[in-house]
Parts: sequence; structure tokens; C-alpha cells
Amino acid sequence: MEYRRLGKSGLKVSSLSFGSWVTFVNQLGEKTASDCMAYAYEHGVNFFDNAEAYASGESEKLMGKILKKMNWTRDSYIVSSKAFWGGDLPTQKGLSKKHLHDACHAALKRLKVDYLDLFFCHRPDPETPISETVLAMNDLIQQGKILYWGTSEWSTDEIKEAYKKAKKYNVRGPVMEQPQYNILHRDRVEKEYKYLFEKYGLGTTIWSPLASGLLTGKYNDGIPKKSRFTVKGYEWLGDTIDSVDFKKIKKVGEVAKSLSITPSQLSILWCLYNKNVSTVILGASNLKQLKENLKSIDYLDLITKQVINKINR
Ligand SMILES: NC(=O)c1ccc[n+]([C@@H]2O[C@H](COP(=O)([O-])OP(=O)(O)OC[C@H]3O[C@@H](n4cnc5c(N)ncnc54)[C@H](OP(=O)(O)O)[C@@H]3O)[C@@H](O)[C@H]2O)c1
Repeated sequence: MEYRRLGKSGLKVSSLSFGSWVTFVNQLGEKTASDCMAYAYEHGVNFFDNAEAYASGESEKLMGKILKKMNWTRDSYIVSSKAFWGGDLPTQKGLSKKHLHDACHAALKRLKVDYLDLFFCHRPDPETPISETVLAMNDLIQQGKILYWGTSEWSTDEIKEAYKKAKKYNVRGPVMEQPQYNILHRDRVEKEYKYLFEKYGLGTTIWSPLASGLLTGKYNDGIPKKSRFTVKGYEWLGDTIDSVDFKKIKKVGEVAKSLSITPSQLSILWCLYNKNVSTVILGASNLKQLKENLKSIDYLDLITKQVINKINR
């Protein structure tokens, strides 16, 4: 495994990590989720990603149960939660001081840990002043409930504002952002955030490296049975299929073939080639996929500028 600094923090995160969106509870029961986490950990993964919204809190409960069973020392792994979509009541959502406080404590309970390493604002909240969110996050740090806080899918202006407020109040600003980043979805990370990487050394824990599975090539001839796009509650993913650049996906398949690796591995390596990526969060609906995806780290040296250019062209 390769380890990267989370932005300009001192935290070393495995460049491949493992997340639970869609999969935990909906597709993976305790046995397979446990096998996946154990395999990942044994192969150097030290970061496990979660959120209050995933399976309405059940994903965190399942991960907490597994973490407890594994009995790994707490200093050997990083675990996250994200707050924003907590529940239906006005007090159960958004980024108010109250919801961040309640969401953090609920996640600690579900994950069965004393502190969260990373705590994200899952989306921007136009109805809460950014200063309130920044100060609430700093309070949680002061209380030892979280170590680092970050954002997910915030605009550059919103993140800049968070840094400005943090400076004004002399408190901790965001350390990391969690954006979507993959061959089909690049602009925010490569263009919009450029300023934030240079000025603030923002770290990134990027999501959907395979565009929910599209980049494996398995959707090239339509939506396969038992794929993510058919999971109950996630059929909306299929609504975007008409605008997908399948020409690009086929190109990825060809380049992967020429390198004797799989399209998934190439797509993951493409993300890792960007040094502003601190960690690529992998998703898998079975152990076989996770094994294939983690194996990509063995092929890091195959990814040259020429290979990247062939894909980007
Ligand atoms: N902050 C946010 O807003 C946000 C949003 C989304 C995700 N995330 C985080 O990022 C993590 C990763 O995102 P993601 O799950 O969307 O990643 P992804 O890698 O784009 O998609 C993973 C899915 O692709 C399919 N797949 C993966 N490897 C495969 C392989 N080798 N062969 C065939 N199919 C394969 C599987 O779905 P099927 O087998 O079911 O088809 C798998 O569940 C999440 O778990 C979550 O922690 C964060």
C-alpha cells in the first residue's frame, strides 16, 4: 500500500480506502462486509468511510459492529462520518451547531468509537452561516470528539469562506474535501479546486472512482441484472445513462487491455495519478471486486503520462 498525507495535515491515509455507500446493508450483509473490511485492512487500507445517511444509520451500525469484532487497535485505522441528511425533522438535518453536535454523538455510538478521525459536512447548507459550522466543528475538535473536519461537494467559494472564518476566529479550518472524481467527472477537482490545493493544501478523499461501476465497462450493453443501478432506491442512477460518454469508457477498456490490467484497475490508477488526491475511496458489492480493485496498487508503475494522455485525449 502507498500512504499519502491528507492534504497538509500530518495524517497518513492509505491511498486506497474503503467506503460503504449503497453496499453496506443493501448488498453486503455482516459476513461479506466483515470479510471485505478484514481483507482491506490486511492489505494496508487504513481508512473506512461512512455517513449518517448511509442506509439511514444502519451502515454505521454494521461498520461499528465489525470494528468491535475485529478489535484492531484504535490507533491503526481512520474512520469517518458525515452529517447533513440525518432525518426528516428540521433539527435533524443541515449543518447547524445542533445537528453537527447530535450527528457526531449518534455516529460515535453507532460506530462504537470514542472519536471520529474525519467528520464531513456532507453538502453545503445555505441556511446555516458558514461561521456557525466552522465554530461547531472546532468545538467538536476541542472536545476530542473529532480530529479533522472537512466538506463534501462544497464550491470553491464556500470552502474559501470557511477558511476565512476559521482565520477570523483563530480556529481550525477544513482539512479535506470529499468530491466525486473519476475519468467521467473531472472538472471540479482539476479546475475549480486548483486554487484551494495551491493556497491551502486541501486534502481530498475522492468518491466514485468507477462512476458507480460504469467505468468497469459492464454497462456498455445496457444495465446488467444485480448491478448498482438495479438496487432498490438507487434506480435514479440509471436516469443518467443516456448522457454517459460510452466512447470514453470503451477507450478505457482498450487502454487497460493493452496494459494487461482491468478497466477498473486502470480507472483507479488514473485517479491516483493526480497528486491532489489523498485517497481513492473504493466501493465493492462483493469481495472479488474489492480484491481486483485493491490489486491496482501493484500496477502503479504502469501509469505514465503517455497512458494518462491516451485516456484523456
Ligand atoms: N461524499 C459523498 O457524497 C459520496 C458519494 C458517493 C460515495 N461516497 C463514498 O465513496 C465510496 C466509493 O464510492 P462508490 O461506491 O460510488 O465507488 P465506485 O467505485 O464508483 O462504485 C462502486 C461500485 O461499482 C461496482 N464495482 C466496483 N468494482 C467492480 C469491479 N471490479 N467489477 C465490477 N463492478 C465493480 C460495484 O457495484 P455493483 O456490483 O452493485 O454494480 C460497486 O459497489 C462510497 O462507499 C462512499 O464511502 C461519498
